Amino acid sequence: MDTIDPRDFRPEKTAPVRSDPPGAVKAMPSPREMHHLHIYADKNYDAMVEFYQWLFNGEIVRVNPNGLTFISYDDHDHRVVILRRKEGEPKPARFVGASHVAFAYASLGELLFVYQRMKERGYPPEYAVNHGNSTSFYYTDPDGNTVETMMDNYAPLDTQNYKRHYQWSEYFGKMAEANFDPDKMLALYETGVPDTILIDREEVRKMCADGRL
Ligand SMILES: [Fe+2]
Repeated sequence: MDTIDPRDFRPEKTAPVRSDPPGAVKAMPSPREMHHLHIYADKNYDAMVEFYQWLFNGEIVRVNPNGLTFISYDDHDHRVVILRRKEGEPKPARFVGASHVAFAYASLGELLFVYQRMKERGYPPEYAVNHGNSTSFYYTDPDGNTVETMMDNYAPLDTQNYKRHYQWSEYFGKMAEANFDPDKMLALYETGVPDTILIDREEVRKMCADGRL
């Protein structure tokens, strides 16, 4: 069996996304994307690794013997890291910290595919809702964290304008009016109802009101 020489995996050249010469950055910059998330786990460590590997169709890039598992789902070296909690103390039922983390997908078809596979795996979402700006499914991981899979319902700037001006306006209605049944959504999607209808909050509200969704 060939032995691997780690030195073969050090690239010859660095490759920044963009090279800014000195003085080019003149204002506080913002991030390009959500890059990675570190999550502590205790007795659920193995289940957490399996959950995120499954949810993201990811692969384990590296396991550090001290209790870190690095998972990626694209060409990045890590997107989610599961860390074994040092003291082995379970997380308290009520805690202060991150509320949830959201991952954006490209289409309703992808979100519904993830939904089906997660449900089969024993992880049905807590709920699903059309927020207007987004179509979102909320899952709970084995350590009790909430993870949202979502898509923007509109183009980026339109979505921002919707959030800025329409959401929670007098025309918006109650958020829960667009809490939908994922199985009904899946059935409508599979019988050919266009995704442009199925991610439209006004259509979703109507279909929820009459029991179709
Ligand atoms: Fe969210």
